[in-house]
Formats: sequence, C-alpha cells, structure tokens
Amino acid sequence: YKMIRLGVNIDHIATLRNARGESHPNPVKAAKFAINHGADSITIHLREDRRHIKDNDLFNLKKIKKIPINLEIAATEKMLKIALKTKPSFVCIVPEKRQEITTEGGLNVKKNKKKIKKVLNKLNQKGIRTSLFINPSLTDVKLAKILGAKCIEIHTGKISNLINNNKRYKKELKKIRNAAKIAKEAGLKVHAGHGMTYKSAKILSKITDIEEFNIGHFLIGDSIFIGLSNSIKKFKKLIK
Ligand code: PXP
Repeated sequence: YKMIRLGVNIDHIATLRNARGESHPNPVKAAKFAINHGADSITIHLREDRRHIKDNDLFNLKKIKKIPINLEIAATEKMLKIALKTKPSFVCIVPEKRQEITTEGGLNVKKNKKKIKKVLNKLNQKGIRTSLFINPSLTDVKLAKILGAKCIEIHTGKISNLINNNKRYKKELKKIRNAAKIAKEAGLKVHAGHGMTYKSAKILSKITDIEEFNIGHFLIGDSIFIGLSNSIKKFKKLIK
C-alpha cells in the first residue's frame, strides 16, 4: 500500500492576488505553507495570457530549493524555452486554448504528435520528469509512451462533474482504471487531476495504479471555509 502524492495547484492564489494587482496573497508564501502542511509538490500553470501565475512567480518559486515544482505548459516554443531555462522538477504538457476558462480536456495527442515529441525530447534530455495531460483513452496512453513521456496525467474533469452532480460515473471510472493499468504496464507513471473534490478524490484514490493527484481550484476554494473563521477572529481581536 502506497499513499498517493498530493500536488497542490496554487494558480488561484495568484488569481486572487491579481484581482488587486499587488502582492497579497503571495503564491510563494502559499507554496511554502502548502509544503509545510503536507503537500508533496506545487503545481503551477503558466498560461499564455498569464491570467494567474506570472513568469516571476515561477522564478521566485524556483529559488526555494525544497519545493518540487510541477510546471504545466502548452507545447509551444516559448513555453519550452522558459521550462528549459528555469528547470522545474516536473513538466506536464497540457492543451491550451486562449478563450477557455480552464483546461477543458486532455491533449489532442494524435494531432500534435510532432510538437509534443519535440518538447518531450528536450525536457527529457535535461532530466526533467515529463508528463502528458490526456483523456483516459488507450490510444493516447500508447502514444504518450511512443512519444517519450515518462508519466501521464489523466484528466478527471468529466468524472468529477458526474460525481458532483450525482450522476452515474462507473463507466468513466472504468475507463480511467483501464487507462491507468495499461499505462503502468507500459512503464509510465500515472497521475490524475482536474476538477477534483473531496468526493471524487476519495473515489479515485481506490485506483492503485495512480501515484499522484494534482488538485487546485476546489482545494484553494475550500480553504476559505476551513480558514475564514480564523481571519475573522483575528480581526475581531485586533479591533476590540
Ligand atoms: N492537472 C492539470 C494538468 C491541470 O491543468 C489542472 C488545472 O487546470 C489541474 C490538475 C488542477 O485542476 P483543478 O484546479 O480543477 O483542481
């Protein structure tokens, strides 16, 4: 029995900070806090439009040696250059459309084979652990292996939605379990992420082939309800 590692995605700490354009809440401070409280790694998505994490956040995070960084990037020349320069411990290649609210599905691996292969090669050469964010599709698992990825991250947005809306999710769960199994047999490490809540994480944690979860939006959002009482108490005490 092995515990699943938890990568905490701090993108939306940056979203909150950016709402005021100043420095609070500070993503680097949040990353340190997360690591000190049990997170195994910190995930950040440097989006093309820099709507949350900025280049400086990545540079500043990199200065803290004890924080393993999982950088999510689109398979573009510009992003590859940044990754090669900053050398995070891990890179996960994700699809990216400018207009989307969040990463809506896994990569179209088949359509972007050449680009993905090139980016994977360059990152692998630098000793960066590479991963592809894919849907639970056997074709994509096999392609990930062929193209040289070391890990896959299975997109769990669909199953999380089904679970949260009390819809039938067993078919999707089976797909994920199967993709994880085939990936592991092919020598790939298996991660999972997107849209996870307490409920879906609990269900998905039963899949023993998965070694890592990356969780962001819900985890950060729920910290409000777990932590708000303390900040209110602190203010009340201060102004007494
Ligand atoms: N994994 C990957 C590859 C992602 O791109 C993201 C964020 O889009 C996540 C995990 C975390 O998803 P969420 O914020 O919904 O928990």
